[in-house]
Amino acid sequence: MIHPLLGTRFSPTKFDPAGRVDDQALELLLEAARWAPSAGNSQPWGFLAARPGEPAHDQVAPHLARSSARWALDAGLLVVTLTRRWVDEPGIAYSEFADYDLGQAVAHLTVQAQALDLAVHQFRAFDLDGLTAELRPGPGWEIVSMLAVGRAADGPSLARERRSVADLTTAPFLP
Ligand SMILES: Cc1cc2nc3c(=O)[nH]c(=O)nc-3n(C[C@H](O)[C@H](O)[C@H](O)COP(=O)(O)O)c2cc1C
Repeated sequence: MIHPLLGTRFSPTKFDPAGRVDDQALELLLEAARWAPSAGNSQPWGFLAARPGEPAHDQVAPHLARSSARWALDAGLLVVTLTRRWVDEPGIAYSEFADYDLGQAVAHLTVQAQALDLAVHQFRAFDLDGLTAELRPGPGWEIVSMLAVGRAADGPSLARERRSVADLTTAPFLP
């Protein structure tokens, strides 16, 4: 049996609007991300945290797609994830593994959230160009995804079927 923090994780499509993410929880989530491994310890990740009522939330919320706004706006925390894809302007990669490493940092954050009785729903359903114009990331940084973090108010509902373990090791290769 895999660890319950992994085995019970799911992406909620309903959050309890009363489920707040306090300063201590937010600190722990970011601390968990901070300790993720990265190629050459390049740490190519960045996050914008926005809780309801904070100015950053007002900046981010209008850029959600209708599909994600339905549940993400009830979450106690929205996080915009960024990767340092370029050294400066697009051209020279900061790290070949920048997006890979950001994903690991988000995985760390997600497991820490489970340990705090919070749930995470990652999503891409937002206006990337609009949000980029709004937040104006610095040179080399690009927005990748968003996370809604909060108290789940439903059970697993997304398509959750998984490929078999055997398939994971055979599918990438010719028979
Ligand atoms: C990079 C990424 C982008 C995602 N984008 C969306 C999205 O735009 N909308 C959505 O409802 N779910 C999104 N998801 C959530 C996945 O659909 C979900 O993780 C998958 O269906 C498995 O369900 P589970 O997380 O409950 O196990 C995204 C997940 C990841 C990792």
